[in-house]
Amino acid sequence: MSSGKIGVKTVAKDDIAYLQDSFKKNDIFSNSVIVITGFAGFLGYYFCHYFLSLDIKRLVLIDNFIIRMPAWVAHVKQDARVSVIDADIAKLRYEDYTEFSEADYVIHMASIASPVFYRRYPIETINANVLGLRGLLEFYKDYQSLQGLLFFSSSEIYGDPDPDFIPTEEDYRGNVSCVGPRACYDESKRIGETLCYCYAQQYGMPIGVARPFNNYGPGMDINDKRAPADFARAVIAGEDIVLFSDGSPKRTFCYVTDAIDGYLRVLIHGSYDYFNIGMDNPEITIRELAEIFRESAANLLGYSGQVRLEEPDDTDYLTHNPNRRCPDINKAKRLLGYNPRILVQDGVGNYLRFLNDTML
Ligand SMILES: NC(=O)c1ccc[n+]([C@@H]2O[C@H](COP(=O)([O-])OP(=O)(O)OC[C@H]3O[C@@H](n4cnc5c(N)ncnc54)[C@H](O)[C@@H]3O)[C@@H](O)[C@H]2O)c1
Repeated sequence: MSSGKIGVKTVAKDDIAYLQDSFKKNDIFSNSVIVITGFAGFLGYYFCHYFLSLDIKRLVLIDNFIIRMPAWVAHVKQDARVSVIDADIAKLRYEDYTEFSEADYVIHMASIASPVFYRRYPIETINANVLGLRGLLEFYKDYQSLQGLLFFSSSEIYGDPDPDFIPTEEDYRGNVSCVGPRACYDESKRIGETLCYCYAQQYGMPIGVARPFNNYGPGMDINDKRAPADFARAVIAGEDIVLFSDGSPKRTFCYVTDAIDGYLRVLIHGSYDYFNIGMDNPEITIRELAEIFRESAANLLGYSGQVRLEEPDDTDYLTHNPNRRCPDINKAKRLLGYNPRILVQDGVGNYLRFLNDTML
């Protein structure tokens, strides 16, 4: 298990202030009990620090630390409003805990998100997204005071979209394989969405489904093996940035605070719906992202490494990897007032500054 030196004292305070300012409805969480599964990952880092900056009543945090135990968890645990439960959400016996029966908001994030790691733990990934989610839905289905339940789906539910459907709207049905190295993730997110739809229809639950598109920023562990983490790790280690493809796949990248702003809006929406959350521009190649990391690191940290290509050792690295992924976010803009603004150059600079301050 790895640990970073990321702690409460070094949290990107400016980012939390930006988030509060852009989300605005922070008071909605006053005196609330919020349950978060999969809290110890990248997005959990921000959710925890955001909620603890507010006047909440209690934060109930669940994780099985399947890949790592980040150092910041110890700091978060010291807050008297926090309960940490070390458990697998797919096997949780709700009757053993009193903490769940007071929840106003539930955020279900538990699921390995990095392709390298979900390929290593495919069954566990399915279980978190399907059995873990179903357990939560069963527990909360008749729970009248629940204000919102947010399920973290993924842009991967669209698979490798047909070029005619890029930018991709929520109603695109996808081009997804039910077998292969990515199927455990893509298909479990899809059945997770179907569970949400059915429970919302049958029990009138206030379920929001978020489909994240490539987030990056502080809190993303540099050993996580997603592209921004790999590039950041190389920079911090003073090594060349290595691309394990020709660098041509295109993505849009959404800085974490803009993304969390969107997720909070989905969480408080109050009735069932599903939304793309991410940046709709610019759509850039992975190679261009690597160049942004290189240039930013050269300017900020005096980095002198280069970007180069290598064959991946992992033969499944690129199997079913989407060529292009770009969201249409007009639905979230229209219905939620969502408006992500942080340019990728600025976000990469923030991430590198954060890592430099906390890890050196
Ligand atoms: N970050 C992104 O760009 C992105 C994109 C698409 C979807 N998502 C989804 O958003 C959610 C959060 O993403 P992230 O980037 O923070 O992921 P992450 O991999 O950094 O963190 C996930 C956390 O879930 C925990 N977990 C996994 N299985 C569990 C289980 N069975 N019980 C309890 N805890 C478990 C892990 O230990 C980890 O701490 C995930 O559901 C992911 O699929 C994220």
